[in-house]
Amino acid sequence: QNSVLVIFNPCVSPPGINGQTVEMDDGKWGYVGSKVDLRCRFINSSPPVKISQVTWQKLVNGTKQNVAIANPSLGVSVAPPYRDRVVFKNGAVRRRTPNLEDTTITFSSLRLADECTYICEYTTFPAGNRENTVNLTVFVRPTTQMSLSTPTLVARSSNLKTPVASCVSANGKPPGTIRWETRVPGEVTTREFRNSDGTFTVQSDYILVPSKDTHKETLTCVTSYNEEVFTDSVTLDIQYEPDVSVDGFDGNWYLNRENVQLSCQADANPAASLYQWRLVNGTIPSNAEIRENILTFKGPITYEVQGTYVCDATNSIGTRSASVEVSIIGMFTWRTMFIMSVVSSQHSGRFYEELPNTADYVSYRLACNKEDYPEPYSPPINPPLSFLPQHPYHSSHTTPATSSSSSNTMSKNTFSPPPHTTAIFKYPSVPGLSSPPPGVGAYTFPKEQYV
Ligand SMILES: *[C@@H]1O[C@H](CO)[C@@H](O)[C@H](O)[C@H]1NC(C)=O
Ligand SMILES: *[C@@H]1O[C@H](CO)[C@@H](O)[C@H](O)[C@H]1NC(C)=O
Ligand SMILES: *[C@@H]1O[C@H](CO)[C@@H](O)[C@H](O)[C@H]1NC(C)=O
Repeated sequence: QNSVLVIFNPCVSPPGINGQTVEMDDGKWGYVGSKVDLRCRFINSSPPVKISQVTWQKLVNGTKQNVAIANPSLGVSVAPPYRDRVVFKNGAVRRRTPNLEDTTITFSSLRLADECTYICEYTTFPAGNRENTVNLTVFVRPTTQMSLSTPTLVARSSNLKTPVASCVSANGKPPGTIRWETRVPGEVTTREFRNSDGTFTVQSDYILVPSKDTHKETLTCVTSYNEEVFTDSVTLDIQYEPDVSVDGFDGNWYLNRENVQLSCQADANPAASLYQWRLVNGTIPSNAEIRENILTFKGPITYEVQGTYVCDATNSIGTRSASVEVSIIGMFTWRTMFIMSVVSSQHSGRFYEELPNTADYVSYRLACNKEDYPEPYSPPINPPLSFLPQHPYHSSHTTPATSSSSSNTMSKNTFSPPPHTTAIFKYPSVPGLSSPPPGVGAYTFPKEQYV
């Protein structure tokens, strides 16, 4: 009855019909430096055979090298190369009257060279030798290192692709795998080297065109090894020459406006170290004060200020420029233009078709809230607009074509201020509208005003 129980118990190997077996694991692995048990158990027969000796051997290139021996009468011996690192785990092996059924060894401080096939051989009497093998695999965790490819990356106009960051999974066994996480588009090249000790070094480079846009972007390298994941990041530091713009000219630099300034803005890495101002085909006016990147015109501005101002910003990578065309708004406004146009077009018998700018006309009507009145009888604008210059003057001898130029195209060299007059403008009489409607006074423009 006992034998039936034994046969169906899966935890106990039944003795072979002819005798004995040596039980070992299918395979074992450990990291370099760690310890691992190599299991070896002798399953005796019934009746039992006598164990004369147990020998652990390493199978190197088909030849067997002794690692450790346990002998019932001579005791335990570990071969010199393993003396510090191999012990029989079961204390019964080392007893004066030993039990050699479990000769599991503990291998500590594993080395790469320990990876091999190991034989556990039982010498018995009278059955002879019984043996089994186990393969020991030694793993090495790689070290991960990430770095910028070169200490300084410079954005060049050549737009050449270049490795900007490098990620290395060094001396791993098996090799680690590398992938990248970043918002910056680029290419990846990955190479794997086999080292002489059997480990692998994997190097992955991230390749892109260094540019101002990629400055300060982050590249993350994700290294996987077995189930373990390591991440490491670098932030790109890309040097680029100044990206320059000139601020401060708002298109509304009217005559006598005070303390206007131009500001030279340079986006640069490293920061711009030098700003230089110049005036195209001219010299910077004497009332201009330059402090770093700011050019301030002290006091009220005059037409002398007009011209194309260039700012040159320099850093260690290069010099770039930006310019602004400064024009001064003079005497004449859209309202002047409007009136002049009305006057001149009236002679040809047409009234509205030849307005210089229909949009100006409409905005004039809206601004003055004159929708209810026939044009010639508009109420006066009173009081005068407060944002106008304090000392306007007036001309009766300028054509709209030259005086209307308040845009940037005005040339400072061709403009001359109109002569000073004090004319009061009256609407001319219009056929069919010879008298204003009841309750509306005839409109007389006040002194001309400037916007
Ligand atoms: C195994 O044998 C080969 C060729 O005989 C030799 O090159 C190699 O070094 C040997 N390996 C070891 C670990 O002795
Ligand atoms: C152990 O390693 C040897 C040689 O590399 C191989 O032939 C054998 O199949 C391996 N045994 C097991 C159980 O993996
Ligand atoms: C500067 O002078 C040159 C030559 O006299 C001329 O061609 C160029 O248009 C001028 N530039 C400006 C902005 O006036």
